[in-house]
Amino acid sequence: MDNFVFQNPTKLIFGEGQLQRLSKELSAFGKRVLLVYGGGSIKRNGLYDELMNIFAANDFKVTELAGVEPNPRLSTAKRGADLCKEHHIDVIVAAGGGSVIDCTKLIASAAKYDGDPWDFVIGKERPKEALPFGTILTLTATSSEMNAGSVITNEETQEKYGWGGPLSYPKFSILDPAYTLTVPMDQTVNGIVDTMSHIFEQYFHTTEQAPFQDAICEAALRQVMDIGGKLVQDPNNLELREAMMFAGVWGLNGFLSMGTRGDWGTHDIEHAISAVYDIPHAGGLAILFPHWMKQTYSRNPKRYVQLAVNVFDVDPTGKTDEETAREGIDRLSAFWKQIGAPVSLADYNIDDSKLELIANKAAVNGPLGGYAKLSRDEVLVLLKTCL
Ligand code: NZQ
Ligand code: ZN
Repeated sequence: MDNFVFQNPTKLIFGEGQLQRLSKELSAFGKRVLLVYGGGSIKRNGLYDELMNIFAANDFKVTELAGVEPNPRLSTAKRGADLCKEHHIDVIVAAGGGSVIDCTKLIASAAKYDGDPWDFVIGKERPKEALPFGTILTLTATSSEMNAGSVITNEETQEKYGWGGPLSYPKFSILDPAYTLTVPMDQTVNGIVDTMSHIFEQYFHTTEQAPFQDAICEAALRQVMDIGGKLVQDPNNLELREAMMFAGVWGLNGFLSMGTRGDWGTHDIEHAISAVYDIPHAGGLAILFPHWMKQTYSRNPKRYVQLAVNVFDVDPTGKTDEETAREGIDRLSAFWKQIGAPVSLADYNIDDSKLELIANKAAVNGPLGGYAKLSRDEVLVLLKTCL
């Protein structure tokens, strides 16, 4: 195992009706609140009204930042930071999915900074202080509710990068699965794919002797496939939404990667695709991952045999490692297709005209991926197989 230090300070408040704890959690930080939300889903499902009632009943003074985009933009985070400065905000509440939460993370740090918040995203500066923030999660996918990551798009330069640090953990996150009942089918599928992809990124590591971590990842993948397969058939089932919400948090809250260093190349490539084409993050992952696996399995076939056997129930008897590995990858593709995930870039009307640009953006810092390093040219090959 690799040496590690683990600390995740986010207080997780999970279950139906837990919104009633919001006022108490917020009171620790002050009365002036910035409420951040997206394009209106929280107004349509009643969460907005519930929040306003809680704020009014407890004398919170609320300023709003509405309209955070899926694939949140730098300009929106800047607007949020300006609102914080103008209204002397004490604490921020993010109500939405990963995009709203990621945007809030940048707002929280930018509110205490006089320079360009993009400095944080590209690592030019590190935040020295930040406003506290809490989240109310409405979409299971990113685990942003319990990690320090934030993925921001600079719409002017068509760049999309992840950044984060100790100040970007939520102080608390309220996870009531009832708020995810209104998530449409395509986003529900995206959440399943994103959660599985996060586990894959951590499962594909080069660390020797991490059997416990591997076993947790394998069990988690089996569970997400079981829960996710049932959920797409029965999206109004609150127990399935609850199970999926719990799985989503685990996907990327750091617990699966203690003592190992994963790959993350596929995520970097997807961020480059959605920087150029503004497609849903998990849609890009669903297209990329099976092709990435086929391109990289020969570097360590045993890993893929283990995945095929332990997660996809492939019987290796009488098969070469390559045959077993490929059968596992095919079963992954079949599962994602069955739940309705996209299979090729053509599903988003993406042709080959900007693949070079995407490969350049993905490999801007050189070869990418901790498990299977891909050069810029190998990324281009991968993208072409995704057409
Ligand atoms: O904007 P609203 O109206 O709220 O609608 C959203 C949005 O259109 C809708 N939605 C959310 N909750 C809903 C709902 N619709 C109905 N009912 C509800 N309860 O869903 C749409 C997508 O929301 P978004 O927040 O964009 O989705 P997701 O949570 O998948 O977040 C995607 C973003 O997170 C980044 C991605 O790159 C992308 O920018 N990621 C963040 C990570 C992190 N912070 O750790 C890691 C991930 O790998 C990922 O890169
Ligand atoms: Zn992801």
